[in-house]
Amino acid sequence: MSLTGIRDEFRRMDVTKVTPQSLLAQKQHGAAITALTAYDYPTARLVDEAGIDVLLVGDSLGMAVLGYDDTLSVTMDDMLHHARAVRRAVRRAMLVVDMPYGSYQLSVDETIRNALRFVKEAGAEAVKLEGGASQAHRVRAITEAEIPVVGHIGLTPQSVHKMGGYRVQGRSEAAAQQLCDDAVALEQAGAVAIVLEGIPRELAAKITALLSVPTIGIGAGPECDGQILVFHDVFGLSFRQRPKFVRVFGDAGTLMREGLEDFRASVEARNFPDNEESYHMPRGVALELAGAE
Ligand code: KIV
Repeated sequence: MSLTGIRDEFRRMDVTKVTPQSLLAQKQHGAAITALTAYDYPTARLVDEAGIDVLLVGDSLGMAVLGYDDTLSVTMDDMLHHARAVRRAVRRAMLVVDMPYGSYQLSVDETIRNALRFVKEAGAEAVKLEGGASQAHRVRAITEAEIPVVGHIGLTPQSVHKMGGYRVQGRSEAAAQQLCDDAVALEQAGAVAIVLEGIPRELAAKITALLSVPTIGIGAGPECDGQILVFHDVFGLSFRQRPKFVRVFGDAGTLMREGLEDFRASVEARNFPDNEESYHMPRGVALELAGAE
């Protein structure tokens, strides 16, 4: 059966709500998983209504929306605020919220407390955290608190200083083996899916074949079970240099710039608003106001 056929057949299974179980079924049927980030109500509605399977309130929020140079300054309050707005928009997609830097590095108790806040205060259906085998005990603890966890290995932006920059990971045999071991450790700890970021395509393919749970790639080649991108990158709304793995699927940035030019020019030329865009006094109401000409 063709890939489109597989996807159509999967759609006929009538997934009205994406869950860890339906993602697993997608992997088993070979139906690619689609995922995007969103940080606010309108973009989350667009993403959900487009039938994207997983919606991540990523801590990329810090760079895409809040104007930071990295993700390290993003707080629990930032994430909760944006996750709540997204929650109001999402019906079908599985809503995953990123645990920001500092929210899971201290103790296991603190980790569980913060993960629970995302579920109770923002309606998250899963949380995501960065790191491999060294984070497996935290993944297990959150899972035991009944919260699905998505892992994230490879280029993990919260480790930017340790990595010495945003560099492709897993390029030596030893580093590749470590990433395989990390993926297996996360799966064994209960992760329901694993994001593979910034690793060679060949390695991502091996990890994807090794795991029972789905992999979702970003800069990890086409053999992953699914693909995720940052919304602002996809629509040309990012002010950073575009990474190699990003494809712009719609140039909203140019559209918005042109619209802004048009707005400014129309107001300056007194073409906006016109008569049709103005309210009018009801017929018969005279405007003989004291003090007015
Ligand atoms: O924060 C984020 O947007 C992410 C994705 C890039 C996977 O972690």
